[in-house]
Amino acid sequence: MSLMNPELKIVTTADGSNTIYSSAVGENYHSKHGALQESKHVFLNSGLKYYLDSYASNSVKILEIGFGTGLNFLLSADYCIKDRVHLDYTGVEAYPLTKEMISQTGYDEYVSFAIWKSFLNHYPDALKTSVQINNCQLKIAHCRLMDFSSEAQYDVIYFDAFAAIHQPEMWDEEAIAHTVQFLKPRGVFVTYAITGNLKRTLKMLGFKVEKAPGAPGKREMLRAVKCANAE
Ligand SMILES: C[S@@+](CC[C@H](N)C(=O)[O-])C[C@H]1O[C@@H](n2cnc3c(N)ncnc32)[C@H](O)[C@@H]1O
Repeated sequence: MSLMNPELKIVTTADGSNTIYSSAVGENYHSKHGALQESKHVFLNSGLKYYLDSYASNSVKILEIGFGTGLNFLLSADYCIKDRVHLDYTGVEAYPLTKEMISQTGYDEYVSFAIWKSFLNHYPDALKTSVQINNCQLKIAHCRLMDFSSEAQYDVIYFDAFAAIHQPEMWDEEAIAHTVQFLKPRGVFVTYAITGNLKRTLKMLGFKVEKAPGAPGKREMLRAVKCANAE
């Protein structure tokens, strides 16, 4: 996938918010039942807010696998700025979208004008270094998940890969073990899907796994908390 790629086009989902359809993958970047609803329900509410409420914290480090359009970052940054929470956010993205493509998503409607402008301005630099977006730190690691490495340990992981039917290698034991090594003990892993394999893998890796109600169009999603003594 490259920039201004003819394989990518903007499409509208059931809640009126846009997503990107990739004909190379054969899938949308978000749920067809509602991109905004999914992002808010799975990542913002069940991930970020759950973490902040559970630990009464005023700072959070988030790692997102599959940064894509940046919708999850934008909603998280908007929430953290309004709630005076310090946010340090790292996205991992193998095929970054162009700034032009992101600017056509219409996601400016869902966050403050200042965040949207600052995000668009800093997006190209965020692919190379850490940037400051109104009090939030953002860095996008331009690499494949299995090539991502970091000294940092995160509080929350947003796992937003394409579905296993399209990209099974993102969901196998090796990929999940690689991902969760970057999560702190008591940290929270959330994703929009739930499968027997994923539950088994996370339990084996020392997680307490919970089925949570899914976003519109999905009965359930998965949230897992890393046990204090997990490696
Ligand atoms: C379901 S979409 C993510 C949507 C994104 N979170 C958003 O809000 O726009 C999956 C993302 O994973 C990226 N991706 C695909 N293979 C990858 C890999 N091996 N490592 C990292 N990212 C990958 C895709 O380019 C795409 O942006």
